[in-house]
Amino acid sequence: MQVGIDKIGFFTPNKYVDMVDLAHARNQDPNKFLIGIGQSEMSVADQTQDAVSMGINATLRYLDRIDKDKVGLLVLGTESGIDQSKSASLFVKTALKLKPEVRTFEVKEACFGLTVALMVARDFVRVHPEQTAIVIGSDIARYGVKTRGEVTQGAGSISMLVKATPSILALNNGHSAYSEDINDFWRPNDSRVALVDGKYSTQIYLDFFKKTFADYKKQKDLATKDFAAIIYHLPFTKMGLKANRIAVADQDETNTKKLQSSFESSKLLSNRVGNIYTASLYLSLLSLLENGNLSAGSLVGLFSYGSGAMAEFYSGKLVAGYEQELDRAADEKMLNRRQKLSIPEYEHIFNEALTDPADGQELTSDDEVGTWYFAGLRDHIRQYKKII
Ligand code: HMG
Repeated sequence: MQVGIDKIGFFTPNKYVDMVDLAHARNQDPNKFLIGIGQSEMSVADQTQDAVSMGINATLRYLDRIDKDKVGLLVLGTESGIDQSKSASLFVKTALKLKPEVRTFEVKEACFGLTVALMVARDFVRVHPEQTAIVIGSDIARYGVKTRGEVTQGAGSISMLVKATPSILALNNGHSAYSEDINDFWRPNDSRVALVDGKYSTQIYLDFFKKTFADYKKQKDLATKDFAAIIYHLPFTKMGLKANRIAVADQDETNTKKLQSSFESSKLLSNRVGNIYTASLYLSLLSLLENGNLSAGSLVGLFSYGSGAMAEFYSGKLVAGYEQELDRAADEKMLNRRQKLSIPEYEHIFNEALTDPADGQELTSDDEVGTWYFAGLRDHIRQYKKII
C-alpha cells in the first residue's frame, strides 16, 4: 500500500523585509545577502502570529477539500512553542473543528520536527489505512537585530495531509538517519532568540548530508543519477546550494544540470520567505512541485536537518496528476500581499514580539479576512481568533 502526501498548504505572515534594505542598514554589500547567503526577502511575524495561528492558516489552505471525520492524527512540529506543557496542536484542533477522538501532540527536534511528524503519520496510516493524518511544521526563526544570523530569519508554516493512495508524493520505505549530541544551535528556556555557532552549524549540516546521502544510496542500491531532484532543509538557500554541489560533484554534465535545475526550482519560495525551521524542507518541496517540471514517477530525495543535531535522508515518488493539488497563483498572492517594512519598523515589530502582551490586552490583526491570529492572553490563556 502506498502512503504519502496528499495535500499541502502554506502560510506566511503579511510583512517582510527586503534584504537590500537590511544590507544597507547593516553596512553590508547587498550581494553578500543576495548571493553569499542567497536570500532576497524574509517574512516577519508580528505579535499576532505564532506557531498555532500560522499552523491553522496553513491547514485552512486545503481543509475544505478533505474529509475531516477521517483525520485520526494531528501532529505539530515546532521549536517556537507557546507553552511548556500543553501541545500547540490542541489549539489548532479546536480552530479546525477536528473530532475529539483525534490523537494529537507536539514534537520537537529543531528543524527535524516536521520530518519526524511525517514519519509517525506515515506509520499511523499504514496501520489505519482508512484514516488520515495532518502534520504541521510552524516556526518563527529569530536570531536578533544586528546579529550574523539576522539575515537568515523568517516565519511561516507548512501543513500536509498524509493518506493511503496519496495524490502528491508516495513515501518510499526506509530512511537513513544520523544523530550526534552537539551544540551548533539551540534556544534556552529564557530566550526568544536562538543561540548559534553559525560556521560550525553549516559544517555539521554538510557532514550529516554526506553521511546520510551516501548511506541511503547504499541501503537502497541507488545511484545519484536515479534522483530526478534532491531537496534540502534551507536555513538560507546558499546552504542547500553547498549541499547540492556535494551531491553532483562526481556526476556527468547532463545529470549535474538536471539536479542543479531542480535545486533552482526548489529554492524560490525559501528565497522570499527565509528560514521557517521545521517547515523549510517542505517549503522546498512545494517550490519544486510548483516551479519544476517533473514527471509522474520521478524519484525525489529529501534531506532533513535539525540542529542539536539529527539528520535524515529519505525519498518519495511523484504521483501522476500531482499538479492538480497545487495552487501556485494563490501562493504567489500570499507572498505578494505582504507589506514591505522599513528597517526601523521591522526592528520595532521584532522587539515587541520578544515578549507576550500584558494579560487582558486585546491584540488586533491587520491581515486579510479569514486569517486566524493570536488575540492576546485572558487569565494567562492564549486566545485565537479569525478576522471577520
Ligand atoms: P556570516 O559569518 O556573516 O557570513 O554569516 P560569511 O562571512 O560566512 O559570508 C557568507 C557568504 O557570503 C560567504 O560565502 C561569503 O564569501 C559570501 P561562502 O563562503 O559561504 O560560500 N560573501 C559574498 N558573496 C557575494 N558578494 C559579496 C559577499 N560578501 C560575502 N559582497 C552564517 C553566515 C550562515 C554563519 C550566519 O548567517 C548564521 O549564523 N546563520 C544562522 C545559522 C544557520 O543558518 N546555520 C545553517 C546550518 S544549521 C541549520 O540548518 C539548522 C537551523 O535551521 C536550526 C534548526 O535546526 O532548528 C539553523
